[in-house]
Amino acid sequence: AGSVRELRKAPKFTPVAPNTQDALVVADGYATAVVARWGDPVVPGAPAFDFDHQTGEAQAGQFGYNCDFVTFFPTGSARGLLWVNHEYTNEDLMFRGWTGGDNAPLEQIKVGLAAHGGSIVEIERVGRTGQWKLVTSGRRRYNRRITAHTRMRISGPAAGSALLKTSADPRGTTVLGMLNNCAGGTTPWKTVLTGEENWNQYFVGGTGVPEAQKPYLVRYGVSTTVAIPAGNRRFDRVEERFDLAKHPQELNRFGWIVEIDPFDPDSTPVKRTALGRFAHEGATTSLTKDGRVAVYMGDDTRFEYIYKFVSKDRYIPGFDRHNRNLLDEGTLYVAKFTGDSPAAEIDGTGRLPSDGAFDGTGTWLPLVSGDKSHVAGMTADEVLVYTRFAADKAGATKMDRPEDIERNPVTGAVYAALTNNSNRTAANIDEANPRPANKHGQILEIVERRDDSGATSFTWALPLVCGDPADPSTYYGGYDKTKVSPISCPDNVTFDADGNLWIATDGNALGSNDGLFAMPVGGPERGHVRQFLTVPRGAETCGPLVVKDQLSVFVAVQHPGEITGATPDNPVSHWPDGGTSQPRPSVAVAWHKQGKKIGS
Ligand code: FEO
Ligand code: CA
Ligand code: CA
Ligand code: CA
Repeated sequence: AGSVRELRKAPKFTPVAPNTQDALVVADGYATAVVARWGDPVVPGAPAFDFDHQTGEAQAGQFGYNCDFVTFFPTGSARGLLWVNHEYTNEDLMFRGWTGGDNAPLEQIKVGLAAHGGSIVEIERVGRTGQWKLVTSGRRRYNRRITAHTRMRISGPAAGSALLKTSADPRGTTVLGMLNNCAGGTTPWKTVLTGEENWNQYFVGGTGVPEAQKPYLVRYGVSTTVAIPAGNRRFDRVEERFDLAKHPQELNRFGWIVEIDPFDPDSTPVKRTALGRFAHEGATTSLTKDGRVAVYMGDDTRFEYIYKFVSKDRYIPGFDRHNRNLLDEGTLYVAKFTGDSPAAEIDGTGRLPSDGAFDGTGTWLPLVSGDKSHVAGMTADEVLVYTRFAADKAGATKMDRPEDIERNPVTGAVYAALTNNSNRTAANIDEANPRPANKHGQILEIVERRDDSGATSFTWALPLVCGDPADPSTYYGGYDKTKVSPISCPDNVTFDADGNLWIATDGNALGSNDGLFAMPVGGPERGHVRQFLTVPRGAETCGPLVVKDQLSVFVAVQHPGEITGATPDNPVSHWPDGGTSQPRPSVAVAWHKQGKKIGS
């Protein structure tokens, strides 16, 4: 019954062809503009960007590096707040002659610390179009930089745990900064959730931690055999806390979901321990049928898991004081996926089993509820701080790098990007992760029982198995594969108001630039992937956000020019400023030149 409606609302634009241009290329009929670039002043009074004379102090007031998650809070029809994560830094592109953190001038290391975190910027509509630009004059009372130094509160069941205490914070309740914030989400009470992802890479001294702690470092990707891993930024040369030999618990204070109030620039960001600690990709909230708050989260590492948190109490619209504590108490679950086809039919070729689908049923396995652990041999604090170990013991399904997760606003189904997994082998494939040496990734669809995000069971399917459409191991929802855009390595996902899935890619293994794609998930066009834009050389596509009025789509262009061997004296990208300029990670906006809906 819904198919005609869904067909009418499916995207119609002519796809952008795969390319390797050093440009942001968008579908015909659309225009793009840069909204905010690395180094643009954010805090009133911050200096203008000066590539060859950056300082930590200047950077702490300017737009940070490697923009990732983007979200938008309108404050009127022509004004709003943009939140942007700054995931990591490419020092070899940021500084001339960078040879590693060991020898770098300390000022450059300070720039790196200050270029992490996030930005809140006020933006305004250009005329009556879908274009937006930075507000660059006036009070800009909301503008704020969050960095690796910003004081944050640790809350929830593990706050104050011995596992989180350091000499600088003997109570285990306060930490400076957040690191490697990748994807994120928002709450119904208009705060930002942002996930600390590959925070393991910032520390040294793993050889010097107590022996009993070493297995936890290993599982979270910190070397216990090399004191200073190659390529380390050496933040420890500026702040001793990054040396684990001296401060072994500092590591445990990173790897959380952080909640930030964009409307109060003096507010203290909060690390929510109830949501567990891992390589947090995103945090997408959804209300359960009885009004509690569910948060869907991926752990983006090979063979890690998909998680869901469900709050104990209900969301009460307008009751801010109550809502602000909802993410401190609830149950953390991890997902187990069971295929419904015979194991012999999951043969590693990627070809569909005889029932016509990679699909099956699943369960959300409870790990911890408040102070009560559901995992034998682990305390609640241990489950929350060493969540991967708890998920192992619970028997969860090891996935192909779970990235961003979103819930379809029209159908209620939940979609996760599984970006790739080079280490998957024929010996450990399963129906949800069916290809060995998985180079191109897949999209996973979860339908919660009774469409309730509070449910503990679900059905699932793979509507998209990515890669060259001519490759028999790919599946484009059953759509005619001669008529789709090739897609590889899905990362960030979002929905438009019509329920079409938008997929941003990172690491396109088909040889052309990354981009942003639209795909209907229902009706006769299910699986009809169309490429909406491509990003410049060396960049990954992040953000994406189709604004509710569907006049604009924001996209973060992360690490333009990140190609092995590129340096400021030999840049491979000059985006966005052109000429001989250095590449600058930036948030851009795309809109239809005739004011039509995004996707038209
Ligand atoms: Fe930062 Fe998993 O992408
Ligand atoms: Ca099946
Ligand atoms: Ca990502
Ligand atoms: Ca990524």
